Amino acid sequence: MSNDGARRHLVLVGLMGAGKTTVGAACATRLARPFVDTDDVVEANTGMTVAELFAHEGEARFRELERQAVVDACATPAPAVIACGGGAVVDADNRRRLHRAGFVVWLQAAPATLMARVKTGSGRPLLEGRGTATLERLAVVRAAAYEATADALVDTDGRTVHEVVDAVLEAYRQ
Ligand code: S3P
Repeated sequence: MSNDGARRHLVLVGLMGAGKTTVGAACATRLARPFVDTDDVVEANTGMTVAELFAHEGEARFRELERQAVVDACATPAPAVIACGGGAVVDADNRRRLHRAGFVVWLQAAPATLMARVKTGSGRPLLEGRGTATLERLAVVRAAAYEATADALVDTDGRTVHEVVDAVLEAYRQ
């Protein structure tokens, strides 16, 4: 039986540098659940890194693979913590699937904070060699998609990982 309707997963969305992977892994430890990162699923499914996929097959192909990774992540049999690549919510199917399968938390931070966290953007093809302006633009372009997917919003600016994890778990348990 599909358990999609049970909204059993905890799902983290947000821009690059929002802390989805770090916070997600820590939440998974606290909840004693598996942790699934959609970028890792794409890489495991293809044997290529995200950067290699963008470089050799292009962003459109990466997005197709990401859509499959979202399907795979949501199909994790045990309740899991899922960190989504920052652009996954741009796709309407992904938005619906994630919202149905989990409680979705949008991790937010100011573009300057995001930029400080991702440093040079290494391994993130949309950021490499670009500056905070790119994140500012993505924040504007994607805001509606994050908002449409999320059940709760957690501001990560000026907070430690521990504090963010507490805030995410509090939202999730309510
Ligand atoms: C992307 C975010 C990245 C990765 C890819 C594209 C995006 O994941 O999926 O580089 O479009 O925002 P993180 O948000 O985990 O860095």
